Amino acid sequence: MMVMALNNANASWILAVIVVVFHTKCSSVNLCPNTPCLCTNTTTDCSDRNLESLHRLENQLPITTTNLILSGNTFMNIRTAFFKPIESLKIERLSLSRCQVKYISPEAFLSVQNIRQLDLSKNNISYKNTRLVLEKLNSSCIEALNISDVKQAPSTLPVNAFESLERNSSLNSLQLQNWNLVNVSGFSFQNLNNLRTLDLSNNKILAMNMEGLHNISRLNLTLNELSGIPNMCDAKNKSLVPRLKKMWLAINHISDSLEFYRQGHCLPELKYLNLSFNAISIIKSNAFSTIRSLEKLRLENMLTYDLLIEEEAFRSMSLTALFFGSPKRVTKELLRYETIFKNCPNLRTLDMSNFDFSNFDKEDFYRMLLPLQDLRELMLRHCSLNFAPFISHLPHLKSLNLNGNFIRHIHQDLFENNSVISEIILRKNQLTSLREESFTDEIWNNPNLSIDVSFNPFACDCDLEWFIKWSKRNRKHVQKYKDNQCDSPKEWKSRFIGDNLHSLEMKCHVLNRTIVIGATIGSFVFVFLFIFVLIRKFRWDILYYIHNCTHGRRRGYQRLVDRGTKEYDGFVAYNTHDRKWIMSELVDILEKKENYKLCLHERNFLPIGSHVDNIFDNIESSRKLILVLSNNFMEDQWCQFETIIANHQLADGNKDNILLILLNDIDSKHFTIALKTLLKEAESVEWTTNANGNKLFWKRLVLFMRK
Ligand SMILES: *[C@@H]1O[C@H](CO)[C@@H](O)[C@H](O)[C@H]1NC(C)=O
Ligand SMILES: *[C@@H]1O[C@H](CO)[C@@H](O)[C@H](O)[C@H]1NC(C)=O
Ligand SMILES: *[C@@H]1O[C@H](CO)[C@@H](O)[C@H](O)[C@H]1NC(C)=O
Ligand SMILES: *[C@@H]1O[C@H](CO)[C@@H](O)[C@H](O)[C@H]1NC(C)=O
Ligand SMILES: *[C@@H]1O[C@H](CO)[C@@H](O)[C@H](O)[C@H]1NC(C)=O
Ligand SMILES: *[C@@H]1O[C@H](CO)[C@@H](O)[C@H](O)[C@H]1NC(C)=O
Ligand SMILES: *[C@@H]1O[C@H](CO)[C@@H](O)[C@H](O)[C@H]1NC(C)=O
Ligand SMILES: *[C@@H]1O[C@H](CO)[C@@H](O)[C@H](O)[C@H]1NC(C)=O
Ligand SMILES: *[C@@H]1O[C@H](CO)[C@@H](O)[C@H](O)[C@H]1NC(C)=O
Ligand SMILES: *[C@@H]1O[C@H](CO)[C@@H](O)[C@H](O)[C@H]1NC(C)=O
Ligand SMILES: *[C@@H]1O[C@H](CO)[C@@H](O)[C@H](O)[C@H]1NC(C)=O
Ligand SMILES: *[C@@H]1O[C@H](CO)[C@@H](O)[C@H](O)[C@H]1NC(C)=O
Repeated sequence: MMVMALNNANASWILAVIVVVFHTKCSSVNLCPNTPCLCTNTTTDCSDRNLESLHRLENQLPITTTNLILSGNTFMNIRTAFFKPIESLKIERLSLSRCQVKYISPEAFLSVQNIRQLDLSKNNISYKNTRLVLEKLNSSCIEALNISDVKQAPSTLPVNAFESLERNSSLNSLQLQNWNLVNVSGFSFQNLNNLRTLDLSNNKILAMNMEGLHNISRLNLTLNELSGIPNMCDAKNKSLVPRLKKMWLAINHISDSLEFYRQGHCLPELKYLNLSFNAISIIKSNAFSTIRSLEKLRLENMLTYDLLIEEEAFRSMSLTALFFGSPKRVTKELLRYETIFKNCPNLRTLDMSNFDFSNFDKEDFYRMLLPLQDLRELMLRHCSLNFAPFISHLPHLKSLNLNGNFIRHIHQDLFENNSVISEIILRKNQLTSLREESFTDEIWNNPNLSIDVSFNPFACDCDLEWFIKWSKRNRKHVQKYKDNQCDSPKEWKSRFIGDNLHSLEMKCHVLNRTIVIGATIGSFVFVFLFIFVLIRKFRWDILYYIHNCTHGRRRGYQRLVDRGTKEYDGFVAYNTHDRKWIMSELVDILEKKENYKLCLHERNFLPIGSHVDNIFDNIESSRKLILVLSNNFMEDQWCQFETIIANHQLADGNKDNILLILLNDIDSKHFTIALKTLLKEAESVEWTTNANGNKLFWKRLVLFMRK
């Protein structure tokens, strides 16, 4: 029933799984079960099986075997019949490395005539024996030969050392490490027409003649005693190695960088140069500028006290990768940081690891890296940095390696313009937290992102919660995932950050609750503030009602009409800025000529009691209320108050006792509702200096006072 229920897609999927499982099982099947070895149809691996002969392999290996690995056994003497048991096989690759071989019968290899790659390294075979063996090898067959660690070789390599391989030679790669060679001439190899790779590393070479190496493309001279580079030019100033592409000169005693400048034109194809662990103390301007194809240059770990890098040391249009870190303290004088990269605009990979940059600041890094607009990869491992250098001006940067520094924080603006960065290594720093805003969304969401923040002293608190969750969901983007451990709190120390996610969530939810409480308090404060603003806006109305309540309504404004019982004839509400007009005009006419008694706050208010009470009391003690309106008046809060009172009086039916004097034109912005109501309901007169108008003004004013 189940099977029938499956649709076609499911069925074929299951079939695929079965096929895959079967296939995997099949390919891991050992095709030589009766031997101690592991066999696939082409490769037989018998390494480190304590074999002393090949008898156990007789007729046991797949007939298709071409690759036989016998390294790490104990063969001691390889006699003539040694390979007889596997004679029927067509072995093409054979390794006898690390087999404690002391002697090889030259006839032994006659049983394995098809060998293309032979590894005899790390044995105890003498030079003499080796030569006899080489003579029996089929030179038109052998392509790669590793005969490193040969004993008792002459210190000057004989020119005829490989003559037996010269006939129809197909030899492409020759390893001659650790022969104790001192003097090597290219003539020894000149008839190996197909030789492209020559490894002479780990010898004691003092002198090297490059003649005869016309076709060589890879030359390894690592770990020798060269004090300068071999002469690459012939007598006619032409290259001896026009096809040399890669050269290793690491761990020698080369001290003069200008040798490369002088001979660069004789290394026309050289793309890769490894000069690490030499004794160059000054990298001179233009040192590598004449090697016109140079792309990768390694200059790491110079064995000198100081390393001075001149301003144009790296001038090169072809250079794309530069590795030159050394465990040295860098000063701005030794490293011409502002200019060294000005002349290598195509640099894409830069490794300055191990330099001690502790006296560089962010600005120095900014300026140093500024010319490198095409940089893709930057390595600053173990540089004593306590800040992440500024890289936002390197728009193509893909990979940043800051392993082993003292960086505590990552700020988002650091990566502001790095939209393509996909590898970030911050392993072994002092980061205590990593937040969503540490990197831009573009970085977090990059499908190619690889981030390594392992071995940092993370504080496993709510700040880290986001990253813990993110890394759990995006495990494939997080390198050394399990090495992200808590440093605090104490009880979680050295535990994986994800282990305590649940309790952390609990803790942070409590925190969330406090946030909710905080928000509630916040909104209360907001409402309070809102009410406060309202109160401020309507304070005069409120004050008015409060006053009415506390002083009783019986002392209401109706009594204003009651002439004779009032102390003043009129209460004048005005702004002190208009005092001049009040004193010279209003007081002059109404008081001096007409004998009315006016209440002016500057003159008649009691110094005791509040201003509010004074206003209320005096308005109550006045028959009339006169508001001297002006822009000054409208801007004065007490005058506003008085306007409000006038409004209330209006509402109480005291319309006839209120007069508005318009002293000048009032800005439209001052027309409050209260003022508009007053102007509409109460009597108003306009002050003017026009003679007739002026007469009319006083006439109306006096009439009003008499009412
Ligand atoms: C060895 O097996 C692989 C598949 O496992 C196959 O493709 C290859 O042709 C086989 N080689 C020989 C020499 O049989
Ligand atoms: C290598 O062989 C020589 C004699 O040929 C011997 O003296 C020496 O001890 C051997 N070395 C090793 C490591 O077996
Ligand atoms: C050497 O190998 C070639 C082809 O690889 C073969 O034609 C030739 O017969 C071999 N020579 C001897 C002496 O076995
Ligand atoms: C010997 O050289 C070959 C390349 O010719 C290499 O594959 C092999 O690993 C070398 N053996 C050792 C022990 O380094
Ligand atoms: C070189 O190889 C050719 C065929 O490839 C053969 O005719 C010739 O005899 C060989 N020469 C030697 C010296 O082995
Ligand atoms: C190296 O050997 C050649 C000839 O074998 C000799 O002319 C030359 O002087 C030697 N050089 C050194 C430095 O021994
Ligand atoms: C270099 O290789 C060419 C073929 O590519 C060959 O004719 C020439 O003899 C070789 N020269 C040397 C010195 O190996
Ligand atoms: C060059 O020689 C050194 C020292 O023997 C070795 O470690 C390195 O792997 C060699 N390089 C190549 C490309 O073979
Ligand atoms: C060799 O040639 C280069 C450029 O081709 C030139 O700069 C240099 O001076 C020449 N050296 C000698 C010794 O002629
Ligand atoms: C350059 O040489 C040094 C010293 O041998 C070595 O450590 C380094 O790996 C080399 N670099 C490359 C890319 O071969
Ligand atoms: C990022 O790029 C924009 C536009 O190119 C630029 O204005 C801004 O200064 C850059 N930011 C930084 C930090 O370099
Ligand atoms: C991710 O890598 C692929 C392949 O290397 C590349 O084509 C693609 O553009 C990359 N995506 C981003 C966002 O960098």
